[in-house]
Amino acid sequence: MCGIVGYIGTKEAIPIILNGLRRLEYRGYDSAGIAYLNGDNTLKVFKKKGKVNELVKHLKNIPTNIHIAIGHTRWATHGAPNDINAHPQLSASGKITVIHNGIIENYSIIKEALIKQGYNFVSETDTEVIANLIEEIQSRDGVILSEAVRLALNEVIGAYAIVVMSSDFPDELIAARKSSPLVIGIGENEFFLASDATPIVEHTKNVVYLNDEEIVSVKNDGTFLIKTIENKIKTPFIEELQMELEMLERGGYDYFMLKEIYEQPTTVKDSMRGRLNLEKGTISLGGIKDYEHKLMNAPRIILLACGTSWHAALIGEYLFEDLARIPVEVDYASEFRYRNPIIKEEDVVIAISQSGETLDTMAAIELAKSKGATVLGICNVVGSTISRITDAGCYTHAGPEIGVASTKAFTAQVTILTLMALLLARKKGTITDTHYHQILIELDKIPAKIEAVLKISKQIEKIAAEFKDARNFLYLGRAYNFPIALEGALKLKEISYIHAEGYPAAEMKHGPIALIDEEMPVVVIATNQSAYEKITNNIMEVKARRGKIIAIVAEGNGKIKELADYAIEIPETEEILSPLLSIIPLQILAYHIALMRGCNVDQPRNLAKSVTVE
Ligand code: AGP
Repeated sequence: MCGIVGYIGTKEAIPIILNGLRRLEYRGYDSAGIAYLNGDNTLKVFKKKGKVNELVKHLKNIPTNIHIAIGHTRWATHGAPNDINAHPQLSASGKITVIHNGIIENYSIIKEALIKQGYNFVSETDTEVIANLIEEIQSRDGVILSEAVRLALNEVIGAYAIVVMSSDFPDELIAARKSSPLVIGIGENEFFLASDATPIVEHTKNVVYLNDEEIVSVKNDGTFLIKTIENKIKTPFIEELQMELEMLERGGYDYFMLKEIYEQPTTVKDSMRGRLNLEKGTISLGGIKDYEHKLMNAPRIILLACGTSWHAALIGEYLFEDLARIPVEVDYASEFRYRNPIIKEEDVVIAISQSGETLDTMAAIELAKSKGATVLGICNVVGSTISRITDAGCYTHAGPEIGVASTKAFTAQVTILTLMALLLARKKGTITDTHYHQILIELDKIPAKIEAVLKISKQIEKIAAEFKDARNFLYLGRAYNFPIALEGALKLKEISYIHAEGYPAAEMKHGPIALIDEEMPVVVIATNQSAYEKITNNIMEVKARRGKIIAIVAEGNGKIKELADYAIEIPETEEILSPLLSIIPLQILAYHIALMRGCNVDQPRNLAKSVTVE
């Protein structure tokens, strides 16, 4: 996610902004920038691709006698990471500057209208559109800055946390939010604005958390006013920060992994934002628009990835074959690159990678390209190597994933694969209208259903305590939930160091059943309606050998709940969407067991967040 910092008051603003940006570095970013008004109210902007230190070098000397400034660390969503796309963005006149965290879904429509009115754009960002929209409204309606911002925000659709500064209004900063956080720090005749409290806590403990669709004007006379974007004045609720800086950096969570598990309702929603239009019943994936035809007619789709991303690829195989009836092959990228595979020009390869820097996956991509195949990418890091060496692709928009164990990136990858499969199925006519719309409606409910699963963390923690000393785990699943068995096992082994294996449930009788005894906890993902009886039989087989069953069941599934030693109930959903829910309790289970074993949840031993070696 991007980082936002603003200051207006009596102190030197630039050091406050730069230090504030450094406080937000943990959020991950690819460029940084700062804007300020100097003594004669001239607006200055400095911005650079790279880290804050690059920006400081670019500034050369730290400007002094500056008392109003804004700063930004950009996590690219629209437009590659470069100096031009870095924030702050300027309006055409150069009088208004904006920093922004979020995604404006209708920015291209607004941009086209502004171009027709004679505006030119220099960046690829949706943020520059906001700056020019504010400028257009201000000159069209002759209103003050805060009113122009309010009117502009009534026209945009999407998520935003913005701070606006104008050389025509040097005594105030305007900020607003919707779906992206924004905090106001209240000092002595000074105000701080930031994406979270980490840049603020060292200056003041008195904060106001702006609510969705609220806009604030903070002034250098020490006054501030909060309104809704419907122009209703709000009484501010000032609270005192209780958390220390370190806790604040993790959003109040003990570990980044826990924070990222709990971000999933938002990140799954963000991965659909601007792509799933429920009202119109449409799916649009701009990044692969030019390749839809090739995908639809591909004799084969080859999915390449490593680790957790490979598990997402396995779910992709079920989705593309089940819905779009396109033959799919899934390969570990590391295996693919060495087995002299048969690759044809009409094949479409999709490489999946959170970091976009995994060497095995990059090498597999180069091999596929050398054979003339079309190669698409599904990445989380904008501008990453894989996103640049593939012909096209989709970003997952899950925001920076700091914990080494992948969680929110995985559910975002599965969401993108689901949208892709549905889009192709619809175009190929391999799905009925009724089933298509039924799935879209259910997909739109998934973030809220993930929220519901997160609420049973305490119950899962109790189960974790029962099994924290186990030496082995077996995870079983069928069909769409077989990859979830693999992913659940990987989560446990990589952060708790307990050996865990995922297996197709039907495969148990071909060997693993020999392992079953009272020392072997068996996690069974039993949400499938289609394989219900068979899963029940698998559970009976384990019980008959005194194995302990932890079952993930759909709410109300009484029979399996009675059979299992521990049952974790999750909301019912379409079978093809069940991986998005059934993985959540397994992430939480692994987290709690690892914690109880004193493991470093965020940085497990021997592991790196991005495997850039062979
Ligand atoms: C997942 O929890 C692991 N950290 C690891 O398996 C990871 O998924 C794998 O290294 C692939 O990384 P990528 O998605 O960045 O390519």
